[in-house]
Formats: sequence, structure tokens, C-alpha cells
Amino acid sequence: MGPTLDTARLTLRLPREEDLDGWADLMADEQAAQFIGGPIPRSGAWRAMATMAGSWSLKGFGMFSVIEKSSGEWIGRVGPWRPEGWPGPEVGWALRKSAWGKGYAREAAEAAIDWVFETLDWSEVIHTIDPANVSSQRLAMALGAVNAGPTRLPPPLENFPVELWRQSREDWRARSPT
Ligand SMILES: CC(C)(COP(=O)(O)OP(=O)(O)OC[C@H]1O[C@@H](n2cnc3c(N)ncnc32)[C@H](O)[C@@H]1OP(=O)(O)O)[C@@H](O)C(=O)NCCC(=O)NCCS
Repeated sequence: MGPTLDTARLTLRLPREEDLDGWADLMADEQAAQFIGGPIPRSGAWRAMATMAGSWSLKGFGMFSVIEKSSGEWIGRVGPWRPEGWPGPEVGWALRKSAWGKGYAREAAEAAIDWVFETLDWSEVIHTIDPANVSSQRLAMALGAVNAGPTRLPPPLENFPVELWRQSREDWRARSPT
């Protein structure tokens, strides 16, 4: 059910309960979870995963589960995300540490942004990023986003320091005509 995106090395599909081992691994890792709320136990990862599945159900979009084709493994979640009170229409990303440094996040984010602009009525895409999260900033920059400065997330996340990176649909399409 729902859209499936196909890239050279990845499949992006809707979250399924079988993804829990991967989600739990991502969210238990101190380094990987540092800028996405901090490490949480498997039970919390289930809730986070259910929230993402719920976004698909309620809004018709949410982050995709990212599957590495060569192994069939769940390596992370990437895609559109706009909970109540969010500062704009986001495409977000988080991968398990074992999948970093391979260009997978960029490959998945490019496919997700293409999908967003083809499918949803979004005129821009944002990324809310902690100023200390250098890897995420590098990815945003590589995608063509620019830092528009500090923003606030809605409660209960209002005390997390975040900056808002953004780019318009026109700029994205001018850079990557499809
Ligand atoms: C943010 C995050 C997704 C970035 O992942 P990433 O793997 O560094 O990002 P990319 O997909 O852009 O990969 C870039 C790296 O892959 C390397 N790479 C290897 N093969 C590549 C290929 N075929 N194509 C592109 N890059 C490739 C690049 O050289 C680069 O390496 P470098 O970081 O040593 O310079 C990852 O750090 C993460 O999940 N962090 C934890 C969760 C998080 O904080 N999320 C963001 C919240 S705002």
C-alpha cells in the first residue's frame, strides 16, 4: 500500500512493523540519536515508528522506510514530515550508523524531494537542523538548501536549538530537471 520509490541502490516504501529492529537500533544509538531527541528504548522506537505510519494514514505522506537493495535491510527513514505546529514542510532524514558515508542519505533525500514536489502541493521544502549537526548540514547544503537562521519547533521540542534550511520548488527543479 502507498507509494514505493526506486533509486539505484535503495527502495523507499511505507513503514511496516517488521522495521522495528532497524528503528530500535537507530534510536538506541547515542551518536545517531543525538540530534533526533536522544536515545530511546525499543518501546519508544515502536511509538516513533507508529507515529510515522500514522502520518501516512492521516496526511497521505510521512517519512519512507529506506531499504538497502543489496541486503534487504532497513537502513533508516527519509521523507516528508509536517506534524502539527511544525515551522514548514520538511523532508527529514536519519540513517543507522552502518549506512553513513555511502551517499545513501542523499540518494534517498533526492528521491523523496522529487516525490514531494511531484505529488504534494508544496512550494518549498525545509530541513530543521541542530546547528551542531554538521553531517546533516552538509547534506542540506549538497541538496541546495540554504540556512535561513534559527527557528522553533512546537512543544515538547521547543527547547531544541534548530535552524531552518530551505529551498523552493523552482530552485530544486532548476537544479535537477526531471
Ligand atoms: C545526517 C545523515 C543522514 C547524513 O548521512 P551521510 O551518510 O553522511 O550523508 P550522505 O548520504 O550525503 O553521504 C555523504 C558521504 O558519503 C560519501 N559517499 C560515498 N559514496 C558515495 C556516493 N556513491 N555518492 C555520494 N556520496 C558518497 C561522501 O563522500 C560523504 O562522505 P563524508 O561524510 O566522509 O564526506 C546521518 O549522519 C544521520 O543519519 N545522522 C543521524 C540522524 C540525524 O541527525 N538526522 C538529521 C536530523 S536533522
